[in-house]
Amino acid sequence: MSKPRKSPDELRSHRWFGGESMRAFSHRGRWRQLGFEPEDYSGKPIIGIVNTWSEMNTCHGHFPERVQAVKRGVLQAGGFPIELPAISLGEILMKPTTMLYRNLLALETEELLRSYPIDGAVLMGGCDKTTPGLLMGASSMNIPSIYVPAGPMLRGFWNGETLGSGTDHWKYYTEFRAGKVSAETVDEVLAGTARSAGTCMTMGTASTMMSLAETLGMTLPGASSIPAPDSNHAVMATASGRRIVEMVWADITPSDIMTQAAFENAITVDMAIGGSTNAIIHLVAMAGRLQVELPLTRFDEISRTTPWLANIRPSGAYLMEDFYYAGGLRALMNALGDLLDGSCMTVGGTTLGETYADAVIHNEDVIRPMNKALSPDGGTVVLFGNLAPDGCVIKQSAADPALLNHTGPAVVFRDRADMEARVDDPDLEVTPDSVLILQNAGPVGAPGMPEWGLLPIPKKILEQGVRDMVRISDARMSGTSYGTCVLHVAPEAHIGGPLGLVEDGDLITLDVEGRILNLHVDAAELDRRREVWKPHRTTPDRGYVAMYAQHVTQANRGCDFDYLQAGARIDEPEIF
Ligand code: FES
Repeated sequence: MSKPRKSPDELRSHRWFGGESMRAFSHRGRWRQLGFEPEDYSGKPIIGIVNTWSEMNTCHGHFPERVQAVKRGVLQAGGFPIELPAISLGEILMKPTTMLYRNLLALETEELLRSYPIDGAVLMGGCDKTTPGLLMGASSMNIPSIYVPAGPMLRGFWNGETLGSGTDHWKYYTEFRAGKVSAETVDEVLAGTARSAGTCMTMGTASTMMSLAETLGMTLPGASSIPAPDSNHAVMATASGRRIVEMVWADITPSDIMTQAAFENAITVDMAIGGSTNAIIHLVAMAGRLQVELPLTRFDEISRTTPWLANIRPSGAYLMEDFYYAGGLRALMNALGDLLDGSCMTVGGTTLGETYADAVIHNEDVIRPMNKALSPDGGTVVLFGNLAPDGCVIKQSAADPALLNHTGPAVVFRDRADMEARVDDPDLEVTPDSVLILQNAGPVGAPGMPEWGLLPIPKKILEQGVRDMVRISDARMSGTSYGTCVLHVAPEAHIGGPLGLVEDGDLITLDVEGRILNLHVDAAELDRRREVWKPHRTTPDRGYVAMYAQHVTQANRGCDFDYLQAGARIDEPEIF
């Protein structure tokens, strides 16, 4: 993969600043407005630091400090750093869901890097959709790029109990709904949970995607496991700044790093860490930007042969801070042995295998060696059947084992509002054996495929002491959640998928071992229902949301925009 080293005249930024054209004079002159002299940047790689910080993003509070560390590294290595703020995608406060805006961040990243004189990019993200959004955009633009993960926050504590973000919130809120704990307790639990900057410290979507970015080779070795407030995090940020400058001269681009084998490594690690179900959608979308095919069946094949090793909530017992002290992702990758292709290259200039060759496990209860695996197969399973012809997923490691082979009658909610209105109705005809169905919560129907897949257990069932039921939707679920939730059903109800044809009382079978999700309604009856079926609501017709609904693909294709998937040429801008 060795390419000729670039000369200063071959830098992308030279097209803006080099020579004696009217525009070159103008560009150099106007940069003086910011105090930049030509000798500051001429002949040096200009490094765009795409920073997803904002005060609406609760997880990126340390980024103003970290961006200084990145800049320091860029300057040390002879580059010139420029900060490019990008849409922040704060998981907690952005509604209806950050997923609606992941593709917007990807598009913004691509266009920022394309339209400005940028030679290489440092991508600063972490909170859920920021990681795939940044990597998708940088992959499309395919200029040298390195990812700086925000890192997980510290462990939560309350009343002598260790708390995990999301996971323990759901747990205590469920007990609150069951009348077992007070509102004050829920407030106290939440106040004890988020103790520092950083992402959710369970193995939710953020920790999963940061781990997978490292597995893909897009971070420096060990970067993804470092807790956000740890001094090693700033050291990693500075080192990333130094490294990107060399990557520009060596012309190491995302397509050199994120190969088919690298994506298969990422799927393997996703299964071994008991990663978020959301990772499947994001990996498919990221691969799609690089012409790498990742059919859902491949996830299932890898799931069947990869043991679950990371004992982290919501599936396991510990938190990401424990994972770091136990050896972090490098130790886990080393434990996976031949299941990983160690020859894949990383942005650090070494192979993936070299990054973890000397990593050891310091706590075998947190990171299990192969002979003490938590389960012989992976955390996430892909199912097909007449209810999900294009597939759906379930996180078996976070489900009640007693429900993994279950047949029960459907209780159908037409949409989120219908569910909110009726789920706690004492007259709702539901038993612990019922299968709760949420329709019209998919990519187009919601829109944005929000994390509504953890349907609440009806109050009257909670009062019977039941804490899990089979739930099925075309929505996603927070990576920090747990429960027997079948998600990402494709095609979704809003575009005519069979999920939209389900009626109260229909029998449904979930068979995780057999990888089956079936609706027991005969074909003639389904045809009759299909003939009278109409979309549940009109599709939005203005603004970004209209564009989203028109171009988003289904979950099995990554929910990317059809026109952003690989194939079309990306032109360099004309400079006049
Ligand atoms: Fe940002 Fe969970 S809210 S990672």
